[in-house]
Amino acid sequence: MSSIQMEGGFPLFGEVQIQGSKNATLPILAATVLIPGISVLDHVPQITDVYSMITLLENCGCIVVWEGHSVIVDASLVSVGRLPKEDVITMRSSIMLLGALIGRTGRIFLDYPGGCIIGNRPIDLHLMALRQLGVSITECHAGVLAQTEQLQGGTITLPFPSVGATENSILAAVTASGTTTILNAAREPEIVELCGFLHKAGACIQGAGTERIIIQGRTLQSMVHYRVSGDRIVAGTYLFSCVACTGEVKLMDAPIEQMSSVIQCAKQMGCTITRKDHNLTAIMERRCVPIPYLKTAVYPGFPTDLQSILMAVYSHADGIGVIEETIFENRFKIVKELQTMGAKITVLQNRATVTGHAHLHGTQVVAEELRGGAALVVAGLASTGITIVSNPYYIDRGYEDITRDLRALGARISKE
Ligand code: EPZ
Repeated sequence: MSSIQMEGGFPLFGEVQIQGSKNATLPILAATVLIPGISVLDHVPQITDVYSMITLLENCGCIVVWEGHSVIVDASLVSVGRLPKEDVITMRSSIMLLGALIGRTGRIFLDYPGGCIIGNRPIDLHLMALRQLGVSITECHAGVLAQTEQLQGGTITLPFPSVGATENSILAAVTASGTTTILNAAREPEIVELCGFLHKAGACIQGAGTERIIIQGRTLQSMVHYRVSGDRIVAGTYLFSCVACTGEVKLMDAPIEQMSSVIQCAKQMGCTITRKDHNLTAIMERRCVPIPYLKTAVYPGFPTDLQSILMAVYSHADGIGVIEETIFENRFKIVKELQTMGAKITVLQNRATVTGHAHLHGTQVVAEELRGGAALVVAGLASTGITIVSNPYYIDRGYEDITRDLRALGARISKE
């Protein structure tokens, strides 16, 4: 069984290139199914969730080739009735293919992608949205049969600005006949990136990044070339590593304009941050002080994906901080592992109260999901002694090579 081992307690000094965004890449890869020809994506992260999505594209009849960090997709011959269940359930984002395949073929059976440890991840909003566009949805115990003679534009009002449901709505609407309006749409940067890719294919979309998106259905063209931006959660992970350990780090090609809430949080904890072009430099000269109360929120609020990592930072901070999780119902799983490292955390419903102190100690801990696993690495870097994180494959789902990147920042870390 592989593991990540580190010796913590040292400041970080160095610079690291930020990988492409996982959560922008996945819906864009799904969108390539709508393009009757070639799409080229640059700056694609080499992570297992991307490999899983590529497997699904190949199951749809696409030809996919890697060239370095670029992915070339030929979706000229897409035809599929059902995707292999074992591939669909490996990753929640397979649900993106529902909207894309309905747009391309008009019929798809998709097994339920399933929940995960952070929540049961229902898809009711995705299905509601597709029904608004004239898609007949039949659910059975195994999955969903979606079919339509002709996608019709309509109005979709999301009761919650779900990122995935917004993306699926766009994927189904972009080639529908007529106009689609999405109200209470998610405003995440990944929505803007998906629409940026579709614009390059000739799509007519207004309002990406706002709560109201208007789409005029169009036939899409081939030969689309798009560069994915840097991953804001990976950049935030390394920024918070410096806040926890002190030191000076430079994050190159960081999507700084997408990180306002994260940068604000780091500054409030005592970090000095400067920028030059797309490079962010963080200097942390003393032990951080937690923000007394912070809650996660939809964009542009503080991202839920950095909540566990912030909890690791708070565990070593000088003071007491309360973190409220408002997006997922079960995203405090990491608490018990942090407690084995000496963290003092109490949880009441969706609020965690962290009493930081300087004596986190290294030990053996177990990663159970992606961002929680990254949080254990950050906690290990701030702890004295050796920390061993098992099940690092969870971390590989979203981080190209977290040990490579942190070693570039001077961390004493390796993967066994
Ligand atoms: C995306 O997941 C991200 N994944 C998640 O990142 C991220 O945490 C999340 O957005 C919130 O920002 C990708 O982009 C691939 P949601 P998604 O639909 O689309 C409920 C990571 O670590 N909901 O906005 O699934 C849902 O249960 C991952 O990179 C419904 O109730 O998020 C959750 O409580 C983790 N019904 C809330 O909405 C639905 O039909 C937010 O979910 C859909 C969602």
